[in-house]
Amino acid sequence: MLSSSMNCVADFFTYETTKSVVVKSWTIGVINRAVQLLIISYFIGWVFLHEKAYQMRDTSIESSVVTKVKGFGKYSNHVMDTADYVTPPQGTSVFVIITKLIVTENQVQGLCPENEERYRCELDNECKKTVTTTGGGILTGLCVNYNATIRTCQIQGWCPAEVDTQHVPVMLEAENFTLFIKNSIRFPLFNFEKGNLLPNLTTDDIKTCRFDPEKQPFCPILRLGDIVKLAKQDFAKLAKTGGIIGIKIGWVCDLDHSWDHCVPKYSFTRLDSVSEKNNVSRGYNFRYAKYYKHENGTEYRTLMKAYGIRFDVLVYGNAGKFNIIPTLINTVAAFTSVGVGTVLCDIILLNFLKGADQYKAKKFEEVTDQVLHPASSSNPMYRSSQTLAGRCEEKQSTDSGAYSIGL
Ligand SMILES: *[C@@H]1O[C@H](CO)[C@@H](O)[C@H](O)[C@H]1NC(C)=O
Repeated sequence: MLSSSMNCVADFFTYETTKSVVVKSWTIGVINRAVQLLIISYFIGWVFLHEKAYQMRDTSIESSVVTKVKGFGKYSNHVMDTADYVTPPQGTSVFVIITKLIVTENQVQGLCPENEERYRCELDNECKKTVTTTGGGILTGLCVNYNATIRTCQIQGWCPAEVDTQHVPVMLEAENFTLFIKNSIRFPLFNFEKGNLLPNLTTDDIKTCRFDPEKQPFCPILRLGDIVKLAKQDFAKLAKTGGIIGIKIGWVCDLDHSWDHCVPKYSFTRLDSVSEKNNVSRGYNFRYAKYYKHENGTEYRTLMKAYGIRFDVLVYGNAGKFNIIPTLINTVAAFTSVGVGTVLCDIILLNFLKGADQYKAKKFEEVTDQVLHPASSSNPMYRSSQTLAGRCEEKQSTDSGAYSIGL
């Protein structure tokens, strides 16, 4: 009892040190070199060359976007210019081109019947006096004549109420409008500045060029029809229901190369593709009004429900430049990882290779105090390791991470 617990304590107070065992085996030798080669080529090829792990990276891109739309459209006997169809007019990175308008003119504050089918009624009590968020105003609780045959609930608000189920034309000329984008960016970490108007762009180019992903990838003037087509959408359909198109400008720059190599990359996508699929709220629209006053002081307004294509200019990017710190960290990681190969080779060597038992016996060796002092050779541990030397024994070294499963 006492001796077993003493053994336990003696087992605990041991020290392991690494001893190199050179294995002259072609199989394990080839596996070892192959694994090392694999790890080294992964680090050189992927980590260093592809992922550029030797660079410091700045992902906090600073950017400003100015937009300008040009073109004339025809809509209900009006010629529409930029001030009519672009909102907001400030040239921000998010703007709407209005392509369809439902206009309700001469609305004044007052009482009038609702004109939607779901407000149809026969008696007053069908028009409960509650505040509704839909419809043209607050229900008064009365059921009044809409026309000679139909009765609807009465509302208080801007009258007459809007009829937004009517069919109105779409301003298809918008397809030929042009969008000019001016984008400046800065990578604060490297104090690197650049814009999408590249230095080789002349004033003539600016007037005549049109963006094309292959032929003119750096032209800052884009035709709206091309943008919508590149986002894989149908212009006529989009103009009718409204929608949101993203214009992405990517700046992924390797600042170890010259300044000229840092160029923008344009890509286009439909951002509200979810609303395209659902039936409840398709597309994109909003309402606004223009207010006027009669000479007698009463106010009236023109209400507009606008359908349009919203363009969001999104700028993203990152820049990398050689830096000694990430280079050192990743080099050390690469060298350390080469050592991972020995774990795999040890598993194969000690378990699956022919003569694994011999390798095991050579690899793990116990040395007690008594081995070093042969005079006192009465210790049972010493004797056991003597008698079992060269035979298969279940041993493992937990500290060094080399395991023998003991098959
Ligand atoms: C756009 O312009 C082209 C050529 O300038 C013209 O053929 C086409 O009809 C125009 N599209 C629309 C919708 O007006």
